[in-house]
Amino acid sequence: MDELDIKALDRTYVANTYGRADVVFTQGRGAEVFDEQGRRYIDLGAGIAVNSFGIGDPVWAAAVTEQLGRLQHMSNLYYTEPCAKLAKLLCERTGFRKVFFGNSGAEANECAIKTARKWAFDKYGDESHSTIITLKNSFHGRTITTLAATGQDAFHTKFGPFTPGFVHASAQDAGEVRALAEKGGCCAVMLELVQGEGGVVPLTREYVDEVVKIAKEYDMLIIVDEVQTGNGRTGTLYAYEQFGFMPDIVSTAKGLGGGLPLGACLLGERVEHTLGRGDHGSTFGGNPVSCAGAISIIERIDGKLLEGVRRKGELIKKAFEGARGVKSVTGLGLMVGLLTEKPAGEVVKEAIARGVIPLTAHEKVRLVPPLTITDEQLCEAIEILKEVIGE
Ligand SMILES: Cc1ncc(COP(=O)(O)O)c(C=O)c1O
Repeated sequence: MDELDIKALDRTYVANTYGRADVVFTQGRGAEVFDEQGRRYIDLGAGIAVNSFGIGDPVWAAAVTEQLGRLQHMSNLYYTEPCAKLAKLLCERTGFRKVFFGNSGAEANECAIKTARKWAFDKYGDESHSTIITLKNSFHGRTITTLAATGQDAFHTKFGPFTPGFVHASAQDAGEVRALAEKGGCCAVMLELVQGEGGVVPLTREYVDEVVKIAKEYDMLIIVDEVQTGNGRTGTLYAYEQFGFMPDIVSTAKGLGGGLPLGACLLGERVEHTLGRGDHGSTFGGNPVSCAGAISIIERIDGKLLEGVRRKGELIKKAFEGARGVKSVTGLGLMVGLLTEKPAGEVVKEAIARGVIPLTAHEKVRLVPPLTITDEQLCEAIEILKEVIGE
């Protein structure tokens, strides 16, 4: 089918929720992707931080196809090997006790929210401590509940009524978290350690230390949303490792499945027994094909790979710090935000026209390439992007 036909079909039949770039992608390899006319692009978006090992990663593809040939789905009424093995691998690598599998970031967060509220219900015998503190400028998903959790007013219109029980504190102001906790009725604080959709804004260690302290004082759980920061993206397996504390609950998705839908909610010691039979579930969650792929991803996120992520992150930062047209550079590992003089949307459009695919995040240009992008690919993409930003 030719390119114009694909676009026309899409515009006619796919719900109108996305502002798509004017390009049809057909295939790729690693950090390179090709459009309908065979034009090559360097991928600095990885499908929004999803294709951890790039496109068509042979190890991941072999794990997925091998599992596809055996059993594509069975239901959580039964045991399957990839689901059990992936849960063990995640627990052994992190120290978490149990894992609930869903299919997306929003679902992982729904599980985190349900777990925190159930934990408080079990403790107090009622729903008196159901409130969850989240941060302004956060993003936690697009279900009605995760929209309510998201601390951005722009997401709190049109679809109400939203799930009650969320209050929002300004990031980097621990006093606001304390003031909300003092009011009582809170069971958890939920945060992204680098606010991704909010513009790639990392929280400081001092702020996070203070929030952890307040959570202890007021007997609140800490939920860390690692949907975007997780699975090696920031230079450690999970970003919390760089902040010197152990959360009670971590939600993750995106890079975990290496390109197939998979979300996970990691449950720590305090909540490992909170969810019981029938408390939660998912038809597709823990799908054997997605889990087989994820095992091949997590097994390869080792010290060497993570060192490469940190090094390449620094390489990007250094290249753009002080560059023409760049006002500031933020981020952690291979999750970088550039505040540019040109509007971010314009930068992305122009970069795509020149064969590089960055993303936006709020007013910033966001770079989240595959973790395995080569130095050559990265340097080539940086040069093109610098030209676009500096013009
Ligand atoms: C931090 C964070 N949480 C949750 C989500 C929602 O994930 P999903 O789109 O897989 O539901 C996202 C997606 O961008 C995210 O960045």
